[in-house]
Amino acid sequence: MNGHTREEKYTKLDFLNLVSDNVNKFIQLNKNNYIKIVSHIDCDGISSTSIIAKAFEREDFRFSIANVKQIDIKLLDKLSKENFDILFLLDLGSDYMKEIEERFSKPVFILDHHKFNYKGDNVNLVNPHLFNLSYEEISSSGICYLFAKCLNDNNKDLAYLALIGAIGDMQEKNGFSGINSLILEDAKEKIDIEKGPRFFGMQTKPINKVLEYCTDPYIPNVTGSSDGAIRFLDDLEIDARDENGRFKRLIDLDKEDIQKIIAGVIVNRLDEENPEDIFGNIYTIKDEEKGTSMKDLKEFSTLLNAVGRFDKTSLGIRLCLNDKESRKESAEILNSYKSELINSLNWFNSNKNNFIFNNLIIINAKDNVKDTMIGTLASIVAKSNAYDKGTIIVGMAYTKDNDIKISARICGYINLDLRSMLKEIVSRIGDYPCGGHKAACGALIPKDKEEEFIKGLLDTNLLTA
Ligand code: C5P
Repeated sequence: MNGHTREEKYTKLDFLNLVSDNVNKFIQLNKNNYIKIVSHIDCDGISSTSIIAKAFEREDFRFSIANVKQIDIKLLDKLSKENFDILFLLDLGSDYMKEIEERFSKPVFILDHHKFNYKGDNVNLVNPHLFNLSYEEISSSGICYLFAKCLNDNNKDLAYLALIGAIGDMQEKNGFSGINSLILEDAKEKIDIEKGPRFFGMQTKPINKVLEYCTDPYIPNVTGSSDGAIRFLDDLEIDARDENGRFKRLIDLDKEDIQKIIAGVIVNRLDEENPEDIFGNIYTIKDEEKGTSMKDLKEFSTLLNAVGRFDKTSLGIRLCLNDKESRKESAEILNSYKSELINSLNWFNSNKNNFIFNNLIIINAKDNVKDTMIGTLASIVAKSNAYDKGTIIVGMAYTKDNDIKISARICGYINLDLRSMLKEIVSRIGDYPCGGHKAACGALIPKDKEEEFIKGLLDTNLLTA
């Protein structure tokens, strides 16, 4: 049984049947219908949109696309007045099933992996939480991929986009599990998989920066230290610099020097729990040029997150659909994203002692971090070794519209439903958008509720609530 229990196999099969039932419902609708696609702005949302858009284009369907930061009542009211025949909600919508049902009599398909509280009968929901599938098993782009493949087997060439979405949603943990691993099999025609060090940015960044920014694996005296990373490389006495004295990219080093770096990292980590735990899978696109941000699926996913956070989702979609013209623009955005991220991290590091409330870190950034970057900052802080396992990170940043974007994360893997806790705290101050997953969720509240929200956080013993 390939290591699967009979029950696990059934839930997967049930989910695949649900996808095909929904595809059947969809293809019975009029082929000339005008379809509106609404999706999220993050990596999973952009990959989802790209897969469905390509699949619809191949069928000559008429459609338009809108990518949004989140779904809320205002958006649903606006959509309900628009002129289209079928609505596709990708990577969002599950939490608003009741409101959607109330507003739309036309067919609505929701392809989403976020949790939901209500399931009506009139909306076509394709969501893994309908079955006993875990969060890591499939992303929204994975669902979109299965939908596309069921629509037409030619869409199998889009499998790698589903993996990029899954990586963006942190579902790659030294490999893929569940339905994602089935999608990986389909993607193998397009991608190579190799075991190697889990260093992010090997295709594009100089090796000193790769090591300095390496939070997973954490490298003592090197992670977070520009001088430490340079000293580490110089001490190894390898050929790491080019003729101008600048550090090369890891992909430009010879094998022996790479081995020395790996050994050096393991030695530096000897006091860590698993010093040799630095290897992982490297997924690269076969026919993509070496050294671009699109070669390595992990870098591609960061690029999509970056374009989304700079309101350039259409650029992300063009990159996914292999539009070569878009590459220059994407390089500029990636640079802006990196400097924005560095500014946010620097601000965090200079102020971090003000944020600690026992097992809770409240990063109230106000105007110091962009609302579109606060989730990324909270994720990086949660993944770094800075706080104990189980610590809760809550990031808060002001938006242009006088709201506060909230992003919550948990350090390490513990079985805690942070989403329910955040929902409970937010619901006490009003009816505001809040949703996500057990370990990563977000909300949006008005600025004048800032103190009330923080008080709610502090009053709730988050770990025992
Ligand atoms: O925005 P942030 O990155 O903090 O969100 C974490 C997760 O929660 C994402 O998957 C996002 O789609 C989800 N989310 C949601 N509803 C919200 C805010 C975030 O489903 N109102």
